[in-house]
Amino acid sequence: MRLRNVKNAKSIIEECEYVVKWSSETLKGNWESIFGNSNPIHLEIGMGKGKFIHEMAKNNPNINFIGVEKYESVLVRAVEKVNKDPLPNLRLLCVDALNLPDIFNHEIDCIYLNFSDPWPKTRHAKRRLTSPIFLDIYENIFVDEIMGGEKRIIQKTDNLILFASSLKNLNNYGYTFDDVSLDLASTEIPNVETEYETKFKKQGIKINYLNASKK
Ligand SMILES: C[S@@+](CC[C@H](N)C(=O)[O-])C[C@H]1O[C@@H](n2cnc3c(N)ncnc32)[C@H](O)[C@@H]1O
Repeated sequence: MRLRNVKNAKSIIEECEYVVKWSSETLKGNWESIFGNSNPIHLEIGMGKGKFIHEMAKNNPNINFIGVEKYESVLVRAVEKVNKDPLPNLRLLCVDALNLPDIFNHEIDCIYLNFSDPWPKTRHAKRRLTSPIFLDIYENIFVDEIMGGEKRIIQKTDNLILFASSLKNLNNYGYTFDDVSLDLASTEIPNVETEYETKFKKQGIKINYLNASKK
């Protein structure tokens, strides 16, 4: 996602108390105290400008939400939303998903992957957020089965190459599919639109959806 640089983006991000400044010592294993409750935690990786995660947090006050984005130039747009309408159950993190095991110790219940970069070339397949490399990473951050946890990944994408590889990788990794659709709009599945999704829908592009879980 390319965006025009926002003036003072760095200081806007630093001054926002809802952006968690990350270091393994202060965050890993401490998310209950960061939110002040033991509610489930849902993570959106690659949240972009943050419309989805903000609306989800607003609609679901008994779930904690964290939006992860690797670029400050993009994250700042989500920070602007949070500054306008702060929510106690929403935090933002500027980090590459590769670093998530340094930040969470089996504390996440659900991961949303909305319109992730598709990396359509085969030689880039390992960069896809549902490649076996990332599924290994998620194993480290998902709540353990021993703790009564169920791992859930929900993905939406316009891209069929990414979608097909997600279905294959998740199936090979032991996930089962609770819902799959090649046209989300034709289903009754409750949905909060993302910025990208709104653009694609206006162009008449169908949205692929999967909801997969694993013990
Ligand atoms: C195509 S945009 C989609 C944004 C948003 N989810 C939406 O649907 O409107 C993908 C976003 O994921 C971010 N991203 C890609 N790889 C990432 C990674 N490894 N860790 C964190 N964010 C990532 C990109 O910077 C970009 O903002």
